Formats: sequence, C-alpha cells, structure tokens
Amino acid sequence: MNYIKVKGTYDVLPTEAENWVALESYVRQLFKTYNYGEIRTPMMEYSNVIHRETELSDMVIKETYNFKDKSDRDLTLRPEGTAGVIRSYVENKLYAQAGVTKLYYMGPNFRYERPQKGRFRQFMQFGCEVLGSNEPSIDAEVIELAYETIYRLGLKQVSVKLNSLGDDDSKRNYRQALIDFLTPVKEKLSKDSQDRLTNNPLRILDSKDPADIELIKDAPLPLDYLNETSKKHFEAVLELLNLMNIPYEIDKKLVRGLDYYAHTVFEIHATIKGFGAQNALGGGGRYQNLVKELGGPDTPGIGYAFGMERLLSALEQEGIALTSPKQLDVYFITFDQQSRKKAIELQHHLRSENILSDIDHLNRGFKPQLKEALRYDSKYIIIIGENELNNNVVQLKNTKTEEQVEVSMDTLTDTLKELL
Ligand code: HAM
Repeated sequence: MNYIKVKGTYDVLPTEAENWVALESYVRQLFKTYNYGEIRTPMMEYSNVIHRETELSDMVIKETYNFKDKSDRDLTLRPEGTAGVIRSYVENKLYAQAGVTKLYYMGPNFRYERPQKGRFRQFMQFGCEVLGSNEPSIDAEVIELAYETIYRLGLKQVSVKLNSLGDDDSKRNYRQALIDFLTPVKEKLSKDSQDRLTNNPLRILDSKDPADIELIKDAPLPLDYLNETSKKHFEAVLELLNLMNIPYEIDKKLVRGLDYYAHTVFEIHATIKGFGAQNALGGGGRYQNLVKELGGPDTPGIGYAFGMERLLSALEQEGIALTSPKQLDVYFITFDQQSRKKAIELQHHLRSENILSDIDHLNRGFKPQLKEALRYDSKYIIIIGENELNNNVVQLKNTKTEEQVEVSMDTLTDTLKELL
C-alpha cells in the first residue's frame, strides 16, 4: 500500500517553513502599518455561506469540496476567504462598530482545480476586507496596500491591472449588451460559453477558448456601460492612485472569477520567468451586496487576496531571500556519557538565554560530531572531554578563525553572550 499526499497538496519541510514564517510575519507587519486587524474564521462553513444564489462562478459551482457531516448538515471547505469573513462580520455584528472595519486574514483554502504550477487543491492566501465605506479612497488604499505588499518585497515589474464593472445598474445594462452582442453568434461559441451566455455572460470575457477569444474581440466592454455615478467613482480611484504614484494599467476585459464584484476590480501581476500570464499573484475588488445577502445591513465592502505559494515561488525565482541561511551559535562535541551529561546541563543554560545550540543524540565519535557542527554552520564548537570535566572548563573554538580558548563552565553563558 502507498501512503502519499492528497493530489494537489504539498508538505512544507523545515527549510521551506522558515520562508513561510518570514512571509507571514512580513504580511502581518504590513497590515498593522495600515491599521488592519486580524480575523480568523473556520476552514469549513455551512454550504449556504459559499453557495449563494447570486454566486454562479465556475469556481464556486464546480470546484468546491462539499460534503455532509454525520448529522446530515451540508458543509463546504472554504474556497476563498471573503464569504466566511463577511459571514463572521454579520454574525458578530461588527457593523455595529462606528466607522470602517478593516480586517485581514491568512489561511488555507480548498479548490478542486487541475493541479499545475502555482495551482493547488489546498493553497494559502492572505487577504483583507474593508467594510462600510463607499468612498473611492478606500478602493485606492486597498490597491495601494496590494501593490506595496509586492513592491516592498523587492519584486520588480509589478503591474496593477484595473477595471470597473460599475454599480448594479451599470452591470445590468452591460450584461444585456453582451447578451445582445453574442446571441447572434451563439452557435460559434464554445460549449461552456454557450451555457455561460444565459447564466453568467461576463465570464465569457475570461474564456481561453480560441473561438471565444476571436468572437469577443469586438464585444462591448464594461467600461463603456458605466453610468455617471460609477464613472465618477472609478475616476476618483484613478486620481488617488496617480497621487500616490501607484503604477496601473486599465485592462478593459478584466472581470475576475467571482460574481460578487461591482465597481473596481483589480489584479496584481509580476513579470516572472516561468510564470504563465494567467497566474496573477493576487486580485480583488469591490462588492456591494455580500453583507446584505449574508443577512447583514446594506454595507459595501472591498478586498483582495494573494496566493502565498505563488508569491514564495516568485521570490525564489527572482533570488529574493526572506530569511538568512540557518546557522547555529554553538554545537557541543563530547566524548563519553559524563561529558555528554555536563554538556546537556550547560546547553540548557545557553538555550534559556536564546543561544542557538545543539548536541549529538546518537553517541557518535568526534569526527561525525564535527561534521554535524559544520553542516549546521555553527559559529562555535564547544568541546568537553575528561580533562575539561576535571577542571570545570570547556574548549571554545571559533569555526571561522579556528581560534580556541579555554573558558570556565561557570562563565560560559556570559562569555558567549558577549561573543555572539
Ligand atoms: P481569487 O482571484 O480567486 O480571489 O484568488 C486570489 C489569489 O489566490 C489568486 O490570484 C492566486 O494567487 C491565489 N489562488 C487562487 N486559486 C489558487 C490555487 N488553486 N492554487 C494556488 N493559488 C491560488 C479571491 O479569492 C477573492 N476572495 C479575493 C477578494 C477578497 N476579493 C475581494 N476580497
């Protein structure tokens, strides 16, 4: 029998885990700078939170993990963070607080997608949701934050792709225009897009099918159907982005993969070797009806999410290190049970002062112990033999300079604290 990981999942081994931790702390720090508070919601939700009447995106309909628990309740593993965060915002009545609510989150999501580079069935996202403001300034802040997240990490050629779908009124008009445009050529559309034409025509703009791409070349675009209010909103967002010198590019075909979006939608792309064009590092946008749909008051929201696997692999590809290579401060080398016991006692003191230390646990000889010390690139080696035990001293050797000094066991911690 084979014991293997579930298709589309991956293990994080200790060397990679350090990068994850570094990225997570970087993200937390950045959100703190922008005054966002963390929210942690469950990985599973009752299915009706995810499968809402208005959400007919392929992702939610075709790619979610749905199952029944033993009490016959319908549950869904969250495929994204937004729906659960809004459910929690409503359930915990966070809307009762004065002002705007700025939330951020980090955690695993699940989508039954075809696994490929940068696409997994369990993947990590960090993201944010801001609830309670219709002001274009919050659209600009959320885009600024998304851009800064990538830019400050040192990724070059970051681009913000931006579009507006407009308010419900504009969206409705656009939807009709698209249906009117595509209906006469319906037969020429791919099978998927023919289905989309009736239930979700906007998604056709996203199609990768060559025939569809050809047919939609001259299709009407959302920007051409914005009413005055929506146009003003979008222009105000652009003005603020210009003010902050955030580079962006208007992508008139950008509609994003979820149906809840209205007004501003955006994606963050970085030009990275080996990354397909469709591999956005992150994306998001405004949603006006989600809070209401999940039982709350009429409250607008905007947010985004980044895929953390993609971000880490982009950083690796660009040679950007988040952590310095692992290095021990000291490694103990001993020769017998007595010296080992003493070393364990000394090591306990060093560790309580946060000195990074390790010791052999296989009763190996001098050479393998030395090899291990070098493998961990230990700054110092501490040697304890019979002589040292008798004289209450250790040999402290600097592995770079090869300089060796005798230090009293009583002052070892202080000596190291000074040296390191
Ligand atoms: P999304 O575009 O579906 O948006 O996902 C955001 C990011 O998650 C993507 O750009 C990608 O980096 C990553 N991602 C998505 N699927 C996978 C996968 N299968 N494997 C690896 N990475 C993946 C959302 O999820 C929205 N909730 C964003 C948002 C928040 N909109 C408003 N608020």
